[in-house]
Amino acid sequence: MTPVLELDRVSFAYRGSAAPVVEDVSLTVADGQSLALVGESGAGKTTLLRLLLGLTRPTSGTVRFGGDELRLGDRELMRRFRRGVQCVFQDPYSSLDPRRRIGSIVAEPLRSLGLETRHTAGPRVAAALERVGLPADAAERYPHEFSGGQRQRVAIARATVCEPRVLLADEPVSALDVTTRVAVVELLNELKREQGLTLVMVSHDLSVVASLCERTAVLENGRVVEEGDTARVLGAPAHPYTTRLVESVPRLPGPRD
Ligand SMILES: Nc1ncnc2c1ncn2[C@@H]1O[C@H](COP(=O)(O)OP(=O)(O)OP(=O)(O)O)[C@@H](O)[C@H]1O
Ligand SMILES: [Mg+2]
Repeated sequence: MTPVLELDRVSFAYRGSAAPVVEDVSLTVADGQSLALVGESGAGKTTLLRLLLGLTRPTSGTVRFGGDELRLGDRELMRRFRRGVQCVFQDPYSSLDPRRRIGSIVAEPLRSLGLETRHTAGPRVAAALERVGLPADAAERYPHEFSGGQRQRVAIARATVCEPRVLLADEPVSALDVTTRVAVVELLNELKREQGLTLVMVSHDLSVVASLCERTAVLENGRVVEEGDTARVLGAPAHPYTTRLVESVPRLPGPRD
């Protein structure tokens, strides 16, 4: 089957910088096979997500969506892309416009894709808010009236209101406290089960990765050093960099330590 998203020998260097931050990366995202991108800070994870979103253009190589090369100039393709691929970023404080009500924020993808108007979006917005565990009257309120965890739910409601196939998420739970983190991970798992959503997720938290993603790709200095079934990659790493990454996870001392 054609992958939903594909990076084919993609490299990327920031302008004016000789050293590439992403180097010769090939990865595929298949429907229903959520993919985690892990690696140390600066490894290039956010840059890879931006390449997958078409926000950054590869210096060489190709990004494909449903088998077609992602070209910002191809309006019909980009419309299908925005309908099929949505994103959630790390910081639930800065990603929501403080001057707009939650209802208008969540309705935005529906309006910009021409699926609903401001007047008809109500029921789908209410359903999306309900799905993420927020009351329907949340639509009338402003972002500052919510906690960090609730704002991340708003961001997830906005990203899933048009029922995309793929959700790209950059550290979606890292700004949240432990309890809220568990709740948001459970919510993402529910969306996977109920909407058939496929996640592409960056996370430093390997337990979050293990509970949400079937596959894991490990990045070191812009290169994929290993990729495969998450349980295998994290449980029996083939590459020494992955071993170090797994071993660096802080653990609470157990009764026998
Ligand atoms: N706008 C920019 N201009 C120049 N270099 C950049 C820019 N943004 C990021 N970089 C560099 O690109 C590399 C990869 O950055 P990236 O943000 O993709 O890392 P990351 O894996 O997401 O890290 P983190 O886990 O800290 O979020 C880093 O060396 C960074 O310094
Ligand atoms: Mg990053």
